[in-house]
Amino acid sequence: MSAYKSRKHKVNPPRTIAVTGGKGGVGKTSIALNLALTLARQQKRVLLLDGDTDLANVSIMLGLYPERTLANVMVGECCLEDILLEADYGLHIVPGASGVQECMDMEPEESFRVLRALSKLERHYDYVITDTAAGLQPAGLHMIAAAELACIVVTPDPASLTDAFSLIKVLRRRGYQRMPSVLINMAQGASQARSVFQRLDSAARRHLQCSLHYIGGIWRDETLRQSVLTQKPVALLPLADPSCRQFITLADMLNVRLSQLPARKAGIAAYWHSVSKRQQVFRQNTQTTSAETNPRERCLQAVSELDTVLAQTPDSAMLRYDVFIRLFALLGRMPGNDIIEIIQTGLSAIAWESLNPEQREHLATHLRHLVDEISPVHTHANAQSLPQVELTEPFYDRIRFGDQGKLTRALKGQPPGVSLSQLLRSIAGKENNGS
Ligand SMILES: Nc1ncnc2c1ncn2[C@@H]1O[C@H](COP(=O)(O)OP(=O)(O)O)[C@@H](O)[C@H]1O
Ligand SMILES: [Mg+2]
Repeated sequence: MSAYKSRKHKVNPPRTIAVTGGKGGVGKTSIALNLALTLARQQKRVLLLDGDTDLANVSIMLGLYPERTLANVMVGECCLEDILLEADYGLHIVPGASGVQECMDMEPEESFRVLRALSKLERHYDYVITDTAAGLQPAGLHMIAAAELACIVVTPDPASLTDAFSLIKVLRRRGYQRMPSVLINMAQGASQARSVFQRLDSAARRHLQCSLHYIGGIWRDETLRQSVLTQKPVALLPLADPSCRQFITLADMLNVRLSQLPARKAGIAAYWHSVSKRQQVFRQNTQTTSAETNPRERCLQAVSELDTVLAQTPDSAMLRYDVFIRLFALLGRMPGNDIIEIIQTGLSAIAWESLNPEQREHLATHLRHLVDEISPVHTHANAQSLPQVELTEPFYDRIRFGDQGKLTRALKGQPPGVSLSQLLRSIAGKENNGS
């Protein structure tokens, strides 16, 4: 397009932002579009990737109806520049950007052609903003990973908070290490926005060991809602208009946050390129293995690949968690006698001796719970039918050792240095001798 051609080549890669959210309807598109327009109004060169797969996309909010989208570029019908739309203040839009996900399934030369064009295009802009597909879809997760800053849009609706939490959980499990920014949309005021943020932040800290960054709030705003119907975004209103001002503040907050993050050497196309290459190597490997090897060898090869990946990232507890849970779930789908043997053999392969006593105790407690859950009746029945089975380590139970207060008093009456387990053992010993 002509406006694109007139742009001068820029050396630094753009700052990349993904506007995302756990679910649809939270305001991702409204925010991505108004933020992009606000930055463009401040004479910044902005490219907006319309990656939301919902019907209410960026183009519709502007009243622009693209004849061609990224899909046409991907099948080689036209060039990337041909599909660019130009909105107010020279904002450029790539319609149908969610299609970039399909690059991963294309032939290497084809995906390289599209991604090289995207990479060349990006260099002309100060900011590349993606309006992502709802975060939990694979395309949405990739778009978040591709950008240097993820802006998760959340509303005070509890369902939106739960969805945002799930999104952060999935991101963390997939090895996402950056701190996501959170934007509270449709808030009734600053204090509500803050308290919604704090709820999400404390849940993420407690359960996901991840802190979040508060980037700001956008109020529930009738003008903004109407602007979608009239196809005139609020960022085009006079600068003094309160609806427009909110986005100026948001753009300021965004710039502050970006200034705290190290600038990247490459834009988002580089990310997609690396994913696409990985995908191709994976496909090639699986094709050769399925043609040339039997299932046992394929499984062993998969395990050895896992071994390599896990050894390369020894600090990623989330990764190990994910792998372990998935393998367990996979094997658990085919229960039977063989699975019991597999678990037995697997457990005996764990290097227990390298655990410290506290870790052993922790694991032993879990295994005891597991036994109780699997066979509660048998455990108790056995205990009754084998009355004199002596446990090497007696465990406290009220029937056998009396109430806790009595036991504590007995412990206090012991010489210094006698531990609870020694006391229990001695009581259990007397019991046995007396019977
Ligand atoms: N701050 C707000 N105040 C009032 N209505 C809003 C606000 N943000 C978004 N909306 C409305 O919510 C609906 C969904 O917004 P949209 O941007 O399409 O969400 P998403 O892209 O997440 O699906 C639209 O009708 C929009 O006008
Ligand atoms: Mg949308």
